[in-house]
Amino acid sequence: MAFAPILRRASAAKNLISLARLAVGSSFSSRSLQTGATGDDSQSMGGYHVSSGGFMRGAVYREPNQPLTIEEFHIPRPKVNEILIKTKACGVCHSDLHVMKGEIPFSSPCVIGHEITGEVVEHGPLTDHKIIKRFPVGSRVVGAFIMPCGTCSYCAKGHDDLCEDFFAYNRAKGTLYDGETRLFLRHDDSPVYMYSMGGMAEYCVTPAHGCLQIARAFGASDIIAVDVQDDKLQKAKTLGATHIVNGAKEDAVERIREITGGMGVDVAVEALGRPQTFMQCTLSVKDGGKAVMIGLSKAGSVGEIDINRLVRRKIKVIGSYGGRARQDLPKVVKLAESGIFNLTNAVSSKYKFEDAGKALQDLNEGKIVSRGVVEIL
Ligand SMILES: NC(=O)c1ccc[n+]([C@@H]2O[C@H](COP(=O)([O-])OP(=O)(O)OC[C@H]3O[C@@H](n4cnc5c(N)ncnc54)[C@H](O)[C@@H]3O)[C@@H](O)[C@H]2O)c1
Ligand SMILES: [Zn+2]
Ligand SMILES: [Zn+2]
Repeated sequence: MAFAPILRRASAAKNLISLARLAVGSSFSSRSLQTGATGDDSQSMGGYHVSSGGFMRGAVYREPNQPLTIEEFHIPRPKVNEILIKTKACGVCHSDLHVMKGEIPFSSPCVIGHEITGEVVEHGPLTDHKIIKRFPVGSRVVGAFIMPCGTCSYCAKGHDDLCEDFFAYNRAKGTLYDGETRLFLRHDDSPVYMYSMGGMAEYCVTPAHGCLQIARAFGASDIIAVDVQDDKLQKAKTLGATHIVNGAKEDAVERIREITGGMGVDVAVEALGRPQTFMQCTLSVKDGGKAVMIGLSKAGSVGEIDINRLVRRKIKVIGSYGGRARQDLPKVVKLAESGIFNLTNAVSSKYKFEDAGKALQDLNEGKIVSRGVVEIL
């Protein structure tokens, strides 16, 4: 949905949450805890230890508008307070596509993918015992794409979504918070950057400390979904939308006003990232309403707003990126557990790992009706 006057918050625990209670028929592994120490079978590379033991595949972005390549890597090694995850699946998100199309600059080459679920297989050496207890080897976890450091001034106040280290290191440099990547190619040991945890790979490392149909859960009575594709709108109905509007066939703002008796909605969420839908979003809210922007745009794009309406009608325009990993993700998992939203229904396309490139291509061509997921395990 490009924008939907509903509350759609993605969210996330420092960025991991254990899925133990959600797991259906899953068993905890009885494997003993590994320390992450690489011992004699490791080799040093620029101060970084790489295991000579194992290899994995990862989907690499090298330059704009080129297909992803599946390449072989050393299995990454977690450092202190980091977790190595065997990736089970990774969501296919437009944010990856923004990077692959060169719309949002990011260090390259990099492994894309930032919406992961998987199993904890190892902790970094000297990891805090509380982290190990919370995420034992064998536990099933989801990772939030904003991986909070847990200690910066924002994280200390619970604003994980503004984590300084995440933006200074991961988003700016493609690394984790010691300024280094955990990904090195098998054939020449050269480093490859990480978009978040670099989740489109068989294993990924994340610091231990890391949207759609939840409007009903928050008590919204009318949920108006706006899109330009009828198949996506029909799907939105099955996910809880009470009204659907095709913005290509009718004036979305006018239609929303009509549905709401001329008032506009309490909360409108823009999830596309274009100047036109940005403005439509601000025009869809009622006086005193909130326009929440989650769609990312080509770097440097500017959104406009009617200044007098903003001022006189007390319109609130709010940006929202990721979520507060330690506060929000546990709540989302609880909502899923309670059956308030149906995760199975939210996934419309599944791909094999070899077809990760095709998944992103389908997303680009509007062929994925709700969420696409690449199954890696
Ligand atoms: N803020 C965040 O935390 C966050 C998280 C995830 C994704 N994003 C961003 O959100 C945006 C959407 O990501 P996605 O993965 O859902 O992408 P998507 O491609 O799956 O969804 C975009 C939707 O917009 C629809 N659309 C296109 N033109 C439209 C128009 N003029 N009016 C109405 N609808 C229109 C498309 O049909 C499609 O359904 C991207 O910019 C992505 O980077 C932000
Ligand atoms: Zn995403
Ligand atoms: Zn932080």
